[in-house]
Amino acid sequence: MRSGMFGNAVSISHQVIARVVQPGDTVVDATCGRGKDTLFLAQLVGSRGRVYAFDIQDEALKSTRELLNKNKCLNQAVLINANHSQMASYVEGHPSACMFNLGYLPGGDHSLITNSKDTLRALSDCITLLAPQGIVSLVFYPGHPGGQEEMESIEKFLSGLPQQLFEVIRASFLNQINCPPQIICIEKLGGGQL
Ligand SMILES: C[S@@+](CC[C@H](N)C(=O)[O-])C[C@H]1O[C@@H](n2cnc3c(N)ncnc32)[C@H](O)[C@@H]1O
Repeated sequence: MRSGMFGNAVSISHQVIARVVQPGDTVVDATCGRGKDTLFLAQLVGSRGRVYAFDIQDEALKSTRELLNKNKCLNQAVLINANHSQMASYVEGHPSACMFNLGYLPGGDHSLITNSKDTLRALSDCITLLAPQGIVSLVFYPGHPGGQEEMESIEKFLSGLPQQLFEVIRASFLNQINCPPQIICIEKLGGGQL
């Protein structure tokens, strides 16, 4: 099946992030998995920039390291074997973008999934660290166990953010079958703190 100009949920988040991130920026991949998003971010920030990439699985960090190395992007990456709920202890500076591609490791253990408690902690710290005009993207997979509940708790948190400080949008493929992924993007509007 030919895909349209929007592609898929992850490519929509890439399109939004690519509009904002500049060479030399600091950015975060909260769930590096097989490293595709980390590579995308590393190519955007270039050799003068920095990507902090988190995952709780050695297998994910290994895959990410190999992919970055193959594409000569390892120098600008800091790969961190830690829960993204600890993001604030690791990230220096103010990221212009942060990606949360949630769920489980493709081709890995499907029982090791992101969860609402840790995702909420990470997201809350992330929007505080974020640079003004910075973007956070989240891709949710409501079709797997726990995915719907995680999405609903994040939506509840984001619905309460003050609109003068953050713009929050949601996108989805309304006519796709089988619980398609959902996208939320957040822009930090000014320098104001919560
Ligand atoms: C859908 S995959 C990410 C895909 C990845 N961005 C890519 O481009 O391949 C989700 C990842 O989140 C990781 N994960 C689950 N809970 C986590 C947590 N609390 N902190 C950090 N990573 C977590 C999983 O191990 C898995 O690798």
